[in-house]
Amino acid sequence: MSDVLELSGVSIVRGGKTLLDGVDWQVAEGERWVVMGPNGAGKTTLLQIAGARIHPTQGVAGILDEVMGAVDVFELRPRIGLASASLASQIPEHETVLNVVVTASYGVTGRWREQYERLDERRAFRLLDAWGVATFMNRPFASLSEGERKRVQIARALMADPELLLLDEPAAGLDLAGREDLIARLSELAADEESPAIVLVTHHLEEVPPGFTHAMLLKDGAVVAAGPIGEVLVEEHLSAAFDTPLEVTLRDGRYSAVARAQ
Ligand SMILES: Nc1ncnc2c1ncn2[C@@H]1O[C@H](COP(=O)(O)OP(=O)(O)O)[C@@H](O)[C@H]1O
Ligand SMILES: [Mg+2]
Repeated sequence: MSDVLELSGVSIVRGGKTLLDGVDWQVAEGERWVVMGPNGAGKTTLLQIAGARIHPTQGVAGILDEVMGAVDVFELRPRIGLASASLASQIPEHETVLNVVVTASYGVTGRWREQYERLDERRAFRLLDAWGVATFMNRPFASLSEGERKRVQIARALMADPELLLLDEPAAGLDLAGREDLIARLSELAADEESPAIVLVTHHLEEVPPGFTHAMLLKDGAVVAAGPIGEVLVEEHLSAAFDTPLEVTLRDGRYSAVARAQ
């Protein structure tokens, strides 16, 4: 099995602050990872490395058998599907839902080519349909609810048939029903062996979709624990990552955590 991600001693320094500190990480084909940690732990920064958006200050980042710094990132980025709040905020207000998805095959936001291949439009429609948002295809993206926008963003991230799918807090801002719906869909995606390798960032244990295989815990830019999910999402490591004594439960594939009674 070839490595989808192979990070070795990766550090990121910005304005004298170390955002990531010597991160080692391997993600292989077929793996589904959750990356967890408190606010400011460096999760989004790690995804920006994995998505070939930024270069390590130190260390080596191998992505899809290429090495950052030795590869044209504009060839690498289309092989990676990314959904994040910062990307969503770049979508023009009146862009239709269908265009939000179709334009991903060109790695741009905003419709800049007049004629798209019909095949692309059909694929975009099929993805919107699979994520339950095809009926909104002609609506402006900005007019959708938060939950609908999240599903459109994932459809967009899948549009270019990526080898790696990166989802940065896809359940943030959703109500309970919206969250549960999204988790069920992500769980289905994880179970599909046609799906690319997946990395999902969250800071809520309740948002871990059943079927995810691996987990990494980050704290202050450093890895607290990483590996098979059942070995990582345990009280010892979670309490260390969140600096709080936690009581963790796992029921029917769903995790939850509360502060341990003193
Ligand atoms: N360009 C930057 N310059 C300085 N600090 C930054 C920059 N980008 C992010 N940070 C800081 O780095 C830390 C990690 O950020 P981030 O990766 O977004 O964390 P997370 O996604 O885990 O909440 C935060 O404290 C954030 O304020
Ligand atoms: Mg973040």
